[in-house]
Amino acid sequence: MTSALAVPILDDDLEARLRARMAEVEDALLHHVESEAPFVTRAARHLMEAGGRRFRPLLVLLAAETGDAGAPGVLTSACVVELTHLASLYHDDVMDEADLRRGAASANARWDNHVAILTGDFLFSKSSELTADLGPEAVRLQARTFTRLVEGQILETLGPQDDQDPLEHYLRVVAGKTGSLIATSARYGAMFADAPTDVVEALTEYGEKVGVAFQLSDDILDIVSETEDSGKTPGTDLREGVPTLPVLIAQRSTDPADARLLELLGSDLTEDAPHAEALALLRVHPAMAEARAYVVSLAAEAKGLLKVLPESTVRTALEAFADAVATRSS
Ligand code: IPE
Ligand code: IPE
Ligand code: MG
Ligand code: MG
Repeated sequence: MTSALAVPILDDDLEARLRARMAEVEDALLHHVESEAPFVTRAARHLMEAGGRRFRPLLVLLAAETGDAGAPGVLTSACVVELTHLASLYHDDVMDEADLRRGAASANARWDNHVAILTGDFLFSKSSELTADLGPEAVRLQARTFTRLVEGQILETLGPQDDQDPLEHYLRVVAGKTGSLIATSARYGAMFADAPTDVVEALTEYGEKVGVAFQLSDDILDIVSETEDSGKTPGTDLREGVPTLPVLIAQRSTDPADARLLELLGSDLTEDAPHAEALALLRVHPAMAEARAYVVSLAAEAKGLLKVLPESTVRTALEAFADAVATRSS
């Protein structure tokens, strides 16, 4: 029995193949997070078993369909990107003081910050160990990706510098913290499947745009979605004072009707009452539609890059993948 894929694949044969490969990835992942210390295995499996859509390994497998999808590095690199992602979630929940992840208690809530940080480190190490099997080019790429991811997270924490446009700063943050790993997922897939160089380059750029769109969709969902759908606590970004795309758009408003929202957005939203009021005002604000339109335009740019591929089921699937990211509701 294989489970549903994170995004719809219209071609039946391709879908069956991807499902079977994802089941292999799943088995391998469980094995890769084993530690000599039973507690570490338990802490590392905690979020892996809680759920997650395995969006990044799926992109590796899909990108690999542009070449020899069965080549040995494909499956391993699919595991590498999921382990890197999983590690970043352990650390991110400490940074965001989040208590819910994948519908379960975050590691910091279930245990404490020390356990969450060290389990994240353990997962990063496991992912590095696995990357070493893929050779020096993959190791370099993995290191660069991780550098960008961490820089993105740090830049988010620091906020824009005095002379910096907040929106420009935020888009840099997003490209770093999320675009980098999703770009690498697409690149690994095409690279290990031995796809032509122009395809590898185009898919890397495609992955970067899809990755940014993915994070911006996540930011929108942080405002509009309920815990039952996201498995996370809504409004975490607002509470943590992270101004995401809809907030940055709303903050450009000069409409007097927005005075209360702007006042709230400029204040401390850690208390329940002002937080709930800001969330309610933001949910009905035109900035939400503007943010969504921007995400859709990014997905269109990503799809434009796929012209390097002949018309084929894999190209159609990659187009659908970009659309699904832009319009996702959970
Ligand atoms: C969450 O990633 C962190 C972001 C970069 C938005 P996902 O939305 O892929 O989380 P899982 O893996 O499905 O839980
Ligand atoms: C997380 O960004 C990005 C990384 C984990 C690198 P968010 O803080 O928006 O992700 P969620 O909403 O907690 O999943
Ligand atoms: Mg977070
Ligand atoms: Mg978020």
